[in-house]
Order: sequence, then structure tokens, then C-alpha cells
Amino acid sequence: MTITPAPETTPASVSALTLEEKASLGSGAAFWTTKAVGSVPRLLLTDGPHGVRKQIAADDHLGIAPSAPATCFPPAAGLAQSWDPALVERVGAALGVEAAERGVNVLLGPGVNIKRDPRCGRNFEYFSEDPVLSGDLGAAWIRGVQSEGVAASVKHFAANNAEHDRMRASSDVEPRALREIYLRSFERAVRGGQPWTVMCSYNRIDGVFAAENRWLLTDVLRGEWGFDGAVVSDWGAVTDRVASVRAGLDLEMPARAGSDDQVVAAVRDGSLSEEKVDLAARRVAALAHRARPRRPEREDASRASHHDLAREAAERSIVLLKNDGDVLPLSRSGRIGVIGEFAATPRFQGGGSSRINPIRVDDALSAIRQAAGDAEVHYAQGFSTSTDEAADDGAQLDAAVRLAEASDVVVVFLGLGDHDESEGFDRDHIELPPVQLRLLARVATANARIVAVLTHGGVVRLAPVTAAASAVLDGALLGEAGGSALARVLFGEVNPAGRLAETAPIRLEDSPSFLSFPGEHGHVSYGEGVFVGYRWYDARRLDVEFPFGHGLSYTSFDHRDLRLEHTATGVRAVVSITNTGARAGREVVQLYTALSDTRVSRAPRELRAFGVVDLEHGEKQDVVLDVDIAALAHWDRRVEGWVVEGGRYLVEVGASSRDIRVSGTITVDRRGDRPAFTAESTISEISEHPAGAGILSALLGGSRSDDAAGQELGMDLARMLASFPLNRLGPFGTPEGAGRLEQVLTALNSED
Ligand code: BGC
Repeated sequence: MTITPAPETTPASVSALTLEEKASLGSGAAFWTTKAVGSVPRLLLTDGPHGVRKQIAADDHLGIAPSAPATCFPPAAGLAQSWDPALVERVGAALGVEAAERGVNVLLGPGVNIKRDPRCGRNFEYFSEDPVLSGDLGAAWIRGVQSEGVAASVKHFAANNAEHDRMRASSDVEPRALREIYLRSFERAVRGGQPWTVMCSYNRIDGVFAAENRWLLTDVLRGEWGFDGAVVSDWGAVTDRVASVRAGLDLEMPARAGSDDQVVAAVRDGSLSEEKVDLAARRVAALAHRARPRRPEREDASRASHHDLAREAAERSIVLLKNDGDVLPLSRSGRIGVIGEFAATPRFQGGGSSRINPIRVDDALSAIRQAAGDAEVHYAQGFSTSTDEAADDGAQLDAAVRLAEASDVVVVFLGLGDHDESEGFDRDHIELPPVQLRLLARVATANARIVAVLTHGGVVRLAPVTAAASAVLDGALLGEAGGSALARVLFGEVNPAGRLAETAPIRLEDSPSFLSFPGEHGHVSYGEGVFVGYRWYDARRLDVEFPFGHGLSYTSFDHRDLRLEHTATGVRAVVSITNTGARAGREVVQLYTALSDTRVSRAPRELRAFGVVDLEHGEKQDVVLDVDIAALAHWDRRVEGWVVEGGRYLVEVGASSRDIRVSGTITVDRRGDRPAFTAESTISEISEHPAGAGILSALLGGSRSDDAAGQELGMDLARMLASFPLNRLGPFGTPEGAGRLEQVLTALNSED
């Protein structure tokens, strides 16, 4: 992949501009465009992320006019299930080609927000509940798009994990969770993908709008992560342009009357420094020079090969959740009953700003008919998503049951419709529509061989499905070619290899943020801290319907012989994977780490690396997984920095977060700053320092044993005293004692 070098810090095109011109570079000309100013060309930005949504007609103020046909790739909820960065990068490159051919300079994606709660209406646009998976897939997407000279815009930065009240609410996240979960996803996408733009979110973070958050947009994004591009606002996220420019926002979108004048006035009255305006203008100019698509615009930008890629991506994104009695793959003889509206009229993407006008859509029913060979295929709609779903359609239901009775195997398509979930609102439950569950139950009494195929953006409660169906294929949302992809998996032309990127809980009430979602009174308290997704279910030892990382195959794999070694940047794991089954297949190898001897609250296991391997039957290959040492760090608020705890780490490699096949340990040295010792440090903190324990006992003298004194009081005195701050201990209470303590602390703090 070609990486365009970082822009010059002072494009010549900006130095000659007036203040008014520089200010005008920092806001849109219309809904999707920026202004051409001097020699700085205009930019065309469009959504994103899973296709190019370029409006055909003139901009309307809501940006909802029809868009030109474009390939609709699987949205992130589907694509993430591939766990395959190389595939995601190819999808990104194809998106880059289509954007370029339509004259688009910036494609608004990927969305790398963490799926904090199953109810978030926009989970279909996000990759995962885990920051490593989410961030690494996001980075791959960015590299792909930008290889075509089109800028990516990683969004929505940051802690935008609910749709409810998204334009006002404050996400109140404690520092460890913010750093280790929510920002880590962005950090990996930014470091690994080097995006040319980042889109800040609507919400506040700890009370400060993302669009006005200097700490976020400047200190962390640029200062710590080295981001060298332009920060763009989410559409309509700016309420105070001057405050935003001050914080490090470069481009307000879309156009807003008077916004540039406010900037000019603030510079003139001295409340905003002109340097900030220069900086923003230079970054927008640099973006405008950098984001120059590598190929010319074409009239007819439809590409058959992109439909094939969309199908390949969909195939790789399908998860086989269950396959009792090897009901799948289907045989190409006998009678196959296909039931459910989604088979004939697929739902393949979510609703809202990412809605693509697809070039062509494959429906599963036609694809099944085509692929069925000698099998007879019959269809019954069963239910309708367009009518009131509370009521059964008796005639449709009866026809479905009759079809099930007359079939050798039944494939039932179930899922959420457009009105059940979309951008802009959150769900308040995770149930499939009751009419569909009633249909499934009836059909299952008529035929024991049921295959359920699921369509949904957000997670659904699966117990009623797994109870009724022998096999379950989870397609999430698969894009325009999902129908043919499903048929190929159903008949075994493709061996499924997708894995869940989000835990499927048994009940919504089990989920980590159940009690604090979507927040109230303008605040969302992220009370579950770092325990998001599987980190929570594992720490609470809760059963789940299907764990994070789960997915079956038509073949089987053996994991063995884990070798761990140190590298210059971290830890390398090598594991031998053998395809022990009868057909070729792909294994997704997942590496988790744990540290039991820890001073901080940690999940029992955390994903640190993953990889895919394609194996013929009987074939064996070594898979290499590298873990950067930084991935093991936790955030220490006392030192405002990352700390890697020293110790013996457990490294687990397996086929899901709850299917660990092989493990080993490796010792890692401590890294990171230590908080300075103060008079408020506790006995236990001082005792942890190699020299601390000795110094303490010398200072405190050989007083009578804690044991004896404790026995009199009926308590473990040593443990109680461990949390005593030093300055509350008698010997250090006097001026002379305090002086001696000060000397000791100075000595300890000067040691390494
Ligand atoms: C969404 C963004 C989108 C933008 C432009 C906003 O409402 O949050 O994801 O890119 O609109 O359509």
C-alpha cells in the first residue's frame, strides 16, 4: 500500500491568505463540501462507512436526498465478524476506488466506537466490544481507503456509545476505562491506520463537548498519538466555533451561517489567537492537497468485481453459531423449505447517514434456488416486517407450517427490520419480534431439522432461536451480496469462519451497562468501568448464550505447541494449528492475556492479538501473533500514564474467549512511571519498594509485635496498619519525625 507522506506544516497556499480567508477554510461551503480558497482546492466529503453515499442532486440541508448507486459492502457489525484485517483493507481499497471515481475526497468512516451496550442504535456501524479488534480492523479500513488517495475520517471521537441524547449528553468515564477501552480503539486505528482526518463526536466527555475538548483533540490525539491530519466535526456538532478552534478543531461541517465571522471577530477582539486559526487553516489546506484521489472520475462507476468482493466479505462475516447433528451444510437433494421475509427481501444494512443505494442486491431465496442442484426449494413468507408485527398473519403462518411439514429441512430467516433499529435512537430491549418467534416455535414443532439465519445490526436474545433450531447462521448485516454469500455457506461451497465480535448475552439484564444505559439528566455514567463486553461476563462468571470470539466451522482445528518469546517490542506467540477435519477451512486464532498477581482490577482475560489461517484438510501451519508491550499496559491515574505491571503473564490461545486450547506464561518487566512517595503514602506502598520495608522498620523501631497487640484487640493489626498514611503514624507526627520522614522519602524518590 502506498502511504502519502505527512503534509508540510505550512503549505505555501495558506501563508498568503487573509484572516477572513483562513477562517473560511475552517467551515463547510455547503452540506458536503468545503470552500476553495486561494490555491486551496475544495473538498467533497461523503458518508461512509460501508459504501459511498454521494448525493445525486444538489445538497439538501439534512443530507438525505437520494444518492448515486454504489457497492454496499457489509456494515461494520457484519464485517467485523471476519476478524480479518487483510480482507477489511481490501474492502477499504475498493471503497477508495469508488470514492475516487465519484470525485470524493473524504470518506466518512470507519466508526470505531466500542459497543458498550447491546441497545445502542448505531452498533451496526461499529466493529466490536473489544478495542483491539475494533481498532485494528478500523486501521485496516483506513489503510485501504487512503491507498487510493481518498482520506478516511475515523469517527466518532470519542465515547459516543449511545444514540439517546447524543448531541448533548456527557459520557462520564473514569480514566482507566476511557483510556483502556474507549480511547484504545481510536488509538490503535490512528496509530495503525494514520488517518488524514478524525471526526469528533457530538457528545460531551466529562462535561466538555468533544468539539471543544482541547485535552482530547490536541493533547491526546496529536500530542500523544502523533496524529498529523485535520479534525472534522460531526455534522452539526459545533455550537461554539471559537471554542472549537481553540481546542484544536480544524473544520466545522456542514456550513453554518456566521461561523467564520465569529472566528474573525474573536481574533480581532483578542479572545482567540490568530495562530490557532492559521493552524486550522494549514491543516485543512494540507488535507485538501493530500486527499487527491489517484484515479479519474468515471461516468459509470459500477464495478462487477466489487460485488464479488462484497460477496467474499459477506461469506467471511457469517458466523456458524450452532450446528447440531451436522444439519449444515445442506444436501442438494430432497425438499428444502425456505421461510421468512428476509429470504426474499433481504435487510443488509442499517438506517441513517450510512444508508447506501446499492448497485445490485442478491436475495438468499434466488441464490438458494440456483445453488440447490437436485433439491426442490419452496418458499413461504411467514411474516411481514412492514405490517404490525404484534399480530400474526394466520394464513401466512399456516402456510409456513404446512411447508415445514412437507420439507426435509427448513431454513428460517429471522431478524430485525429497519424500524427496529437505526441511527438516531437506541433499542429498549434485545428481543426478536414476537411474531417471528411464534412462527419459529410453530415451524419447529412441524420439522426437527431447522436452520435459523439471523439478520440484525445489534445483538438479539437468542435463547428462543437456539432452543428451536439445530443450526444457526448469524449474518448480522451482510451488505448487498449477503444473499448469495449465505447460499454458498448453507450448501458448503464456503466453509464458515466468522466469529462473534460481540458477546451474545443470555438476557439483556446480564449486560455490563444494563443499569446505566442510556443515562439520565444529561449524563451517562460508565459505571462498569473497564469491564465491557466479555471482560464483564468473564469477571462475573456469567453464562452467556455465545461468547465473544465464538464461531464454528464445517471442519475442526487443533491448537498445539504454544511457544512464547520476547521480542524487541513485546511478546511473540507461535502456535501450531492443524485442520483435523475433512474439508478445507479457516481458523481465527485468538490470543488473550491475564495477570493474576495484579494491583489493579482486571478482567480474567483480554484480547491482545488475533490472526486467521486457511488450511487444507490435514494441513498444519504455525501462526505467529505479536503483542506489543504497550497492549499490556493499564492507565495509572496517579502518574497520568501507562504502566505495564511486572509479573508472570498467562497467555491463552484459543478459538473463542471461552474456548481456550493452549496456554503458557511469560515474565514481563515492569514499565512506566511510579507515583512519587509522599507523607501520605501508606505503609503498604512503601513496603513494596525494595528498600522501603527495611527503612520503615528502622524508622519505626522494633516496637512490640503487631501480632500480640492485634490479638488483644481481636484484629489483624498488620493488615490494618498497611493502609495507614505515614504522616498519621505517631513517630512521624512530631516535627522531628516529620523531618526524618521527609529525608527518607527524598531518598526513596531519587532511586530508580
Ligand atoms: C453522523 C455521522 C455522519 C454525518 C454526515 C452525522 O449525523 O453522526 O456519522 O458521517 O452525520 O452524514
